[in-house]
Amino acid sequence: MKIRKVVLPVAGLGTRFLPASKCIPKEMFPIVDKPVIQWLMEECAACGIEEVIFVTARGKYALEDHFDSATSLMYWLEAKDKTGLADRMRSLENLVRVTAVRQKHPLGLGHAIWCAKEAVGNEPFAVILGDELVLSKKPAIGQLIDASERLGGSAIAVDEVPADQTDRYGIVDGEEIEPGIMRLSRLVEKPKPEQAPSCMAITGRYVLPAEIFEILENTEKGQGGEIQLTDGLNELARRPNSPMFSVQLEGKRLDAGSPLGLLQTSLCYAMEDERYRADVLNIMEELLETSKAK
Ligand code: G1P
Repeated sequence: MKIRKVVLPVAGLGTRFLPASKCIPKEMFPIVDKPVIQWLMEECAACGIEEVIFVTARGKYALEDHFDSATSLMYWLEAKDKTGLADRMRSLENLVRVTAVRQKHPLGLGHAIWCAKEAVGNEPFAVILGDELVLSKKPAIGQLIDASERLGGSAIAVDEVPADQTDRYGIVDGEEIEPGIMRLSRLVEKPKPEQAPSCMAITGRYVLPAEIFEILENTEKGQGGEIQLTDGLNELARRPNSPMFSVQLEGKRLDAGSPLGLLQTSLCYAMEDERYRADVLNIMEELLETSKAK
């Protein structure tokens, strides 16, 4: 069945970015000239996704507003003959249909996904976590949807991480069936390095069946006292007739969820942009020279 909907949890408080995230959702921080959330929405639009469901919370209105019409701004841009900019702004309204559901209590990622149950309905769907951007030829979620269709099951994006970092991620266990693809038997949320079944970490893109909602409804609190999506997936992977695969995506994975990561993400995206590449290189060369001179 075609994947039409993406669930995008954005209810988090963004504590790693405080004080910057006190009044502005971290998903609205810019990467070059677009907020993180817009890059993610463009990824969805490029793959023919029809609807993105934000799992949101109090104080996160800016995310929905960003994709809404802005009459007075448009009026002003057109009055000033800034038609190119006006067109860019208008295209935001038509990028992908946005709906929003509320996560009223911060009970964990598994709970956040469960909050989208009614909005998704009884069809397979994708999940994108807002902390990870992927610079790739083919949009990351499109790669995962294709893999899920071809393999006939759920698909979880993974990447290899250093052995001492397994406690930052969900870690998967399974058998390699072809290069970059494993059939999964077990998933563990943030295991200590000595307990990790592998170094393959979940990286924020999933294609899942609607069956996961009923599982999450009954998933107990896990790591960190929260209802973990990884625990729900572990239950799903153990069920007969619900094959689950991990997929290593093509492209460069970037962490937009921490200050240093956001800086690196901005630099990498600016280097991909003709308008900025040469200037960014100059700035970096200058910085290098200055640091050598010290
Ligand atoms: C979440 C997931 C984890 C995954 C990670 C990827 O953790 O629970 O399994 O590896 O995202 O970014 P969080 O970073 O929200 O703690």
